[in-house]
Amino acid sequence: MLKVGIVGTGFMGWIHYLAYRKVPGVKIAAICDKIPHRLAGDWTDIKGNFGPQGEKIDVSEIRTFTDLEEMAAWPELDLIDICLPPFLHADAAVAGLRGGKHVFCEKPMSLTTGECDRMVEASRAAGRQLFIGHVLPFFPEFAYARQVIASGEYGRLLGGNFKRVISDPMWLKDFYDPKRVGGPMLDLHVHDAHFIRLLFGMPAGVTTQGRIRGEVVDYFDTLFHYDDPSIVVRATSGVINQQGREFTHGFEIHLERATLHFEFAGFKDGPEVMPLKVLAADGQVIRPQLGDGDPVRGFEGEIAEVVRCVQNGQPSAILSGDLARDAVVMCHRQTESARERHTVKI
Ligand SMILES: NC(=O)c1ccc[n+]([C@@H]2O[C@H](COP(=O)([O-])OP(=O)(O)OC[C@H]3O[C@@H](n4cnc5c(N)ncnc54)[C@H](O)[C@@H]3O)[C@@H](O)[C@H]2O)c1
Repeated sequence: MLKVGIVGTGFMGWIHYLAYRKVPGVKIAAICDKIPHRLAGDWTDIKGNFGPQGEKIDVSEIRTFTDLEEMAAWPELDLIDICLPPFLHADAAVAGLRGGKHVFCEKPMSLTTGECDRMVEASRAAGRQLFIGHVLPFFPEFAYARQVIASGEYGRLLGGNFKRVISDPMWLKDFYDPKRVGGPMLDLHVHDAHFIRLLFGMPAGVTTQGRIRGEVVDYFDTLFHYDDPSIVVRATSGVINQQGREFTHGFEIHLERATLHFEFAGFKDGPEVMPLKVLAADGQVIRPQLGDGDPVRGFEGEIAEVVRCVQNGQPSAILSGDLARDAVVMCHRQTESARERHTVKI
């Protein structure tokens, strides 16, 4: 049984907590935070934009820490799960790796590519695995798309249009701070940057148009350039004035003989889904059954991949630090393109 310690018992700490309870072969042995009532098990004040409301949890068999270095030194643990704000990821990951633990760190990997490199290097030096929590490929619709593309059933991948738009997350006070959270580009769009990198490879360049807010890009549209001109990939992300719709995401993925379509929106009065469809070239509309729509399922799949990789001593092709670093690079080039109003090579 792998023993994990979660550092950061906020929104993601809560979602990971729920997911760990469903994954065999792993148990939560420790938590670390600075907030006393969270360490005492009262998670009722956690705020996020999907999943169930936080609850009171049983901490009687969970060791609690206020200091990550102390948790990293505790020999009982195999894995440290970092659910801290992005500016703390690199130091926390390096501390965990130096403590001899495998590390699973939430996205974005870090706010600078230099820090991403430091994390990868610490993993190599310690001989411990580093996983970055890019959960999107484990969401049933995105997992299905990956599987259909890999099967080659509908021919070559030609491109896609990806969307991830939220209302202003007013409870996240540092959201627009490029040095603490990274704004909509690094905290939100990085999911699609990573998925695009996974499906299409690293683009040769990007053209982004966006509305700037302070030091970050607020709402933006990007064209990703590939050497093959028949590959057309774009993404729309950011924050718009829509407090009644906290979150929406979706995609249209183009293959030679089919288009995949999916859209989800979390409205204040409940979610609405346009379930994934395969729109085949012969006119068929195929509606695969993809489960119950519970967003925590994606995190269960992601954590199951971490557990499998640690148990087998093999790296993850999806959650690797190298891929996550590429996603951070793409986000920085997109910001540069929006600011300087021209295409930027990668
Ligand atoms: N995968 C996803 O879909 C998804 C969704 C939301 C957030 N995230 C990511 O998860 C990470 C955390 O975001 P969140 O929304 O859970 O934030 P949050 O503010 O809700 O939680 C952060 C927690 O870290 C604790 N903390 C801060 N500094 C600490 C320290 N030095 N030592 C110990 N604890 C400390 C805080 O007290 C808080 O409980 C971010 O990287 C964010 O981008 C991912």
